[in-house]
Amino acid sequence: MLGAAAAAWAIFRALPTKYPVRVVAQTGELPVGGSKIFTYPSNVEPCILLHPAQDTFVAFSRTCTHAACPVFYHPEANLLSCPCHQGEYSAADGSVIAGPPPRPLPRVILERQGQDLIATGMVKT
Ligand code: FES
Repeated sequence: MLGAAAAAWAIFRALPTKYPVRVVAQTGELPVGGSKIFTYPSNVEPCILLHPAQDTFVAFSRTCTHAACPVFYHPEANLLSCPCHQGEYSAADGSVIAGPPPRPLPRVILERQGQDLIATGMVKT
């Protein structure tokens, strides 16, 4: 029975989802090492945009995959931490580094058009 539920969940997760296309920031808004909180894909789902290096921008869901606490960016260590149970994620790819989170942080797909950083979708693994 559990196997059927897992298979149904895998199919559900694989279904294409329509995401909004939305400008989330201007490239000049963030200094290197800076971050910005925004919402995506809905107006109640917090995400975090990171500027870890010149011309490099990445964004992730800000909701910890363990118990949904917000994560915080630490540019000096290039990681995102969750204060609730000491979960840690790589700020490069959202993968779990330490603690109880069972999955990586979903990544926001970003496109750059001129000075605009545009969210076009999310990758959940
Ligand atoms: S809620 Fe983030 S580690 Fe538990």
